[in-house]
Amino acid sequence: MLKNSPLLVCALILLLPFSLLAQSQYPIIPLPSKLTPREGQFRFSKTTRLVLPLADKGLKPVVDFFAAQLRTATGLPLAYFSANSTAIPPGTHVFFIEAPAGKVGPEGYRLTIEPDRIGIVAATPKGYFYGIQTLLQLLPPEAFSPQLIKDVDWVLPCLQIEDEPRFSYRGLHLDVGRHFFPVPFIKKYIDLIALHKLNTFHWHLTEDQGWRIEIKKYPKLTQIGSKRKETIIGHARRENKAYTGKYDGQEYGGFYTQAEIRDVVRYAQARFVTIIPEIELPGHALAALAAYPELGCKPDTTYRVATTWGVFEDVFCPREVTFKFLEDVLTEVMDLFPGPYIHIGGDECPKKQWRESQFCQDLMKKQGLKDEHELQSYFVGRIEKFITSKGRKLIGWDEILEGGLSPNATVMSWRGTEGGIAAARQNHDAVMTPSSHVYLDYYQTEAKSEPVVIGSYTPLAKVYGYEPVPAELKPAEAKHILGTQANVWTEYMKTSDQVEYMVFPRACALAEVAWSLKECCTYADFVSRLSTHVKRLDYLNVKYGRYADAPLTLEK
Ligand code: ACM
Repeated sequence: MLKNSPLLVCALILLLPFSLLAQSQYPIIPLPSKLTPREGQFRFSKTTRLVLPLADKGLKPVVDFFAAQLRTATGLPLAYFSANSTAIPPGTHVFFIEAPAGKVGPEGYRLTIEPDRIGIVAATPKGYFYGIQTLLQLLPPEAFSPQLIKDVDWVLPCLQIEDEPRFSYRGLHLDVGRHFFPVPFIKKYIDLIALHKLNTFHWHLTEDQGWRIEIKKYPKLTQIGSKRKETIIGHARRENKAYTGKYDGQEYGGFYTQAEIRDVVRYAQARFVTIIPEIELPGHALAALAAYPELGCKPDTTYRVATTWGVFEDVFCPREVTFKFLEDVLTEVMDLFPGPYIHIGGDECPKKQWRESQFCQDLMKKQGLKDEHELQSYFVGRIEKFITSKGRKLIGWDEILEGGLSPNATVMSWRGTEGGIAAARQNHDAVMTPSSHVYLDYYQTEAKSEPVVIGSYTPLAKVYGYEPVPAELKPAEAKHILGTQANVWTEYMKTSDQVEYMVFPRACALAEVAWSLKECCTYADFVSRLSTHVKRLDYLNVKYGRYADAPLTLEK
């Protein structure tokens, strides 16, 4: 993002049709690539009609989404007409127009607002959807009201926008293993993802502390693995290798049925959000081992679903029975989730039990593996072959680089940027999610009144200042950086309100990093637009962080 260089600022003011000074008058987040102001205003009224192109091509549900939201807030009829209708009455109109072939990218749109007509031009339903999101943000924030609001002048400024995203991958993650969040909240989260023109929801479904997805072939995963006896209060503590601390004494659990998951997937598809399911392996597997101990290296152990936070030594053992189990699980997962990527975790897998296991040591000799990192690579490689054979792509945390990357793997770089750099240099795709900038479980202010969080400090400005393409990469390598994602680990987020408090408005900054041009704008301008954007979040009942005594104060 632009770093306060006066020369650069002057140059950009001269070069851009949409001057930096004017941006905050158009409080759109993420900011469009090109905006040209025009004279005048368009006013939505009883005589505003929506005009659809002759060839529908999946557009109708998108227009329905727009009309439903606007009818709710405004009470206007917003009748539909077909472009070839000879009976379109006089008044003002919103035209949905098919883009000429090759003129607008698959996620792009053009929006023209004139005093008597609005035109949204796109090549795909997704492009129209993003055009609509921008249009809604040009209306007064009351357009986001879930109830009829009277006495609002529903006007928009005349302008022309040409817009498309900088990155093809724009993600937000949620860990539902540490704490479980019910379907209505997952849908709200997806709505918020779509509002910010993010296109990927990374659903972290399995953890040491809970297995959250129904698998028909292995019912104990949810019967046993979805529940823990109790939960640590406050920070996890370890003394002399033993977990200590105070526990709440209350059983905790929850999981999604396959019917619920299908419903959520359909919901996300209607909002152009792809869900990436994550099934953690070989580590973070304690809940699965509690259900099926034969999958661990110590099958005689009584494994228990974890009740505290941390990294546990009990991991999947690379036996044939484990591979059969994981292939069966992934088969059901791939049946539920139609997207291209399947996330297999791969992070934080302690190798102690593999070192101590005669079976593992024999397997390493047989396979010619020189250490346990190569054994992990063998493990992930087998899973990758299976996923690839089903026409899907494996994505995993950057530890999957250790011991050698599987041929078709995509890397999610979380321990800094090194993993993404290494992947790109090996001609592999990478998604950048470094904990230094986009971990939204870290403190957002230094205020004493903050709730307990895992630690560290990532204020809004730091997220906003993140540049996903590492400077070290040559242009050909940089092409492998698909985009960026913010991660939301929920050890210390028990309720959906807490999730919203931690995620917003930092996810708004992430959205601008992922969508808008690198040199688009200053942090001050973003904050200025944000002061309008949070009014939308208020209408959407989002309990975002207000930073009581931080440099930024967002008034209601
Ligand atoms: C991670 O934060 N363990 C991916």
